[in-house]
Amino acid sequence: MSSTPPRIYVAGHRGMVGSAIMRHLLAQGHPAERIVTRIHAELDLTDQQAVRAFFAEEKLDQVYLAAAKVGGIHANNTYPAEFIYSNLMVEANVIDAAHRNGVKKLLFLGSSCIYPKLAKQPMREDALLTGILEPTNEPYAIAKIAGIKLCESYNRQYGASHGVDYRSVMPTNLYGPGDNYHPENSHVIPALICRFHEAKAHRAPSVTIWGTGTPRREFLYVDDMAAACVHVMNLPKADFNHYSNSMLSHINVGCGHDISIRKLAETIARVIGYDGEIAFDPTKPDGTPRKLMDSTRLNVLGWRAQMGLEVGLEKTYEDFLQNRTMQP
Ligand SMILES: NC(=O)c1ccc[n+]([C@@H]2O[C@H](COP(=O)([O-])OP(=O)(O)OC[C@H]3O[C@@H](n4cnc5c(N)ncnc54)[C@H](OP(=O)(O)O)[C@@H]3O)[C@@H](O)[C@H]2O)c1
Repeated sequence: MSSTPPRIYVAGHRGMVGSAIMRHLLAQGHPAERIVTRIHAELDLTDQQAVRAFFAEEKLDQVYLAAAKVGGIHANNTYPAEFIYSNLMVEANVIDAAHRNGVKKLLFLGSSCIYPKLAKQPMREDALLTGILEPTNEPYAIAKIAGIKLCESYNRQYGASHGVDYRSVMPTNLYGPGDNYHPENSHVIPALICRFHEAKAHRAPSVTIWGTGTPRREFLYVDDMAAACVHVMNLPKADFNHYSNSMLSHINVGCGHDISIRKLAETIARVIGYDGEIAFDPTKPDGTPRKLMDSTRLNVLGWRAQMGLEVGLEKTYEDFLQNRTMQP
């Protein structure tokens, strides 16, 4: 058996998740020269010919598919055609080119939005395709579901004959270094970090947050997510197959507990050092009361989140302070 480390392609290596996967692989001692990357400008993954040529040339062993067109509610609502088209094309091109060029191991990253809007909480993997999706990001979610089904279909058709073993992970809300702080298009943690940072700088007496503060959400530190990706990629096939099903193969990745928006806001204010009042505006919409993944399958497969929320937020704020001049 050769001891040469696998040649790994991290698709989307400059994104929040892809860059965390890079950090994790390098920290584990994976040689940098055995990791292949291309920025979007060098390789557009929606371009089938370019993707096929890239895979034919690079002779890869493993692929982490963390490239995707992602965005918030506003972007998803405004550009639904771009969201469904780009994501379908990226997944189909990469997964098919991987198979055509002998790549046996691939990990596809999806999202918790694959689950029905009214899925029972905590959401288990078998909630997939049991109900209506949230309409605002339905095109994106459909593309992500197609990604899971692409992996499963290639496994079913080419698993026995070609050794194809393509897996999918569905992360909960992520936060950490490399997050997006765009004023109109950021997730709740980066948005609150900006609000409290500004309020502290301007000595604002209070910060008002939309809604009642009672909805509960789950958050996972992005470096924990990267560790989970590498763990799932490297699980022995027999173990993985024992706890998954050929037509229900995806694995949830969460920390296993949720927190109210009020408690989250208080924690972020403490980390930033903002000591003014935190007010809530109950006339504004709250959204879903609770969103929590059931990560039992991954826990049974030997992985649990390591990072506590407060320490994770401290690291995230450090990253924000170092990189905020680059933010729009
Ligand atoms: N962040 C979260 O909270 C979260 C939660 C759940 C799931 N996820 C999933 O994790 C994955 C990665 O998300 P992320 O937060 O890391 O996103 P991100 O920061 O936006 O990174 C995505 C990367 O993909 C690249 N990309 C997009 N379209 C491409 C194309 N056509 N060709 C080549 N590269 C392309 C982007 O490059 P450009 O910027 O140059 O286009 C970017 O570097 C996604 O599948 C997402 O659904 C993320």
